[in-house]
Amino acid sequence: MSLHIIEHPIIRERLTHIRSVDSDTAAFRHALHDISRLMCFEVTKDLETNPCTVKTPLKKTEGHSLTRPIVLVPILRAGVGLMNGFADILTEASVGYIGLYRDEETHQPHRYYCKMPPNIAEADVILIDPMLATGGSAADAVDELKSEGATQIRFACLIAAPEGVEAFSKRHPDIEIYTAALDEHLNENAYIVPGLGDAGDRYFGT
Ligand code: PRP
Ligand code: URA
Repeated sequence: MSLHIIEHPIIRERLTHIRSVDSDTAAFRHALHDISRLMCFEVTKDLETNPCTVKTPLKKTEGHSLTRPIVLVPILRAGVGLMNGFADILTEASVGYIGLYRDEETHQPHRYYCKMPPNIAEADVILIDPMLATGGSAADAVDELKSEGATQIRFACLIAAPEGVEAFSKRHPDIEIYTAALDEHLNENAYIVPGLGDAGDRYFGT
């Protein structure tokens, strides 16, 4: 299993706002946007580059270009909130969407939408969803990405439950997970404890 827990004082501070039951939609969005930009740095740290030549106004020198195109894939709905900071920085990235919702009783994911860019098979793909709870949604999304030909995939989330990390890693041992926090456990409704509640509802004010 490859689990990266991203340690950063600003992320820890913003995550406190996000967790707080007293934060309103605006405070939640603002903090998630900040974390998203900071996480982008860590999640992309080992992307491959190729050497190239660049001409400055003074002379030719060595530069670097990304080896592969980047595709961001947020899982609807809440993934959109965590994606925005990545998109701020990776302005060249294409964006694919996977729509999934969790059945409230069985906790199984149901896919209702999928639209990927044509270059998915050659790309470095960053799958994004704030919550890794049972792991079912993220694992189903990776099934879809692999069936579309993606081979270079990493998963970025905000909060992970140990149960979700284990289940996801069993189904997809080749995929690295990046998270800002590893929480205690799932409750009887498969919500992450202490968590933040329902990420989609809190981000969209529903
Ligand atoms: C949330 C979250 C993940 C999923 C995680 O989405 O954004 O997609 O739950 O749970 P899992 O690891 O147990 O599958 P939700 O189903 O609430 O949909 P929403 O984003 O549309 O609110
Ligand atoms: N989905 C959420 O939004 N929150 C959780 O704690 C679990 C699944």
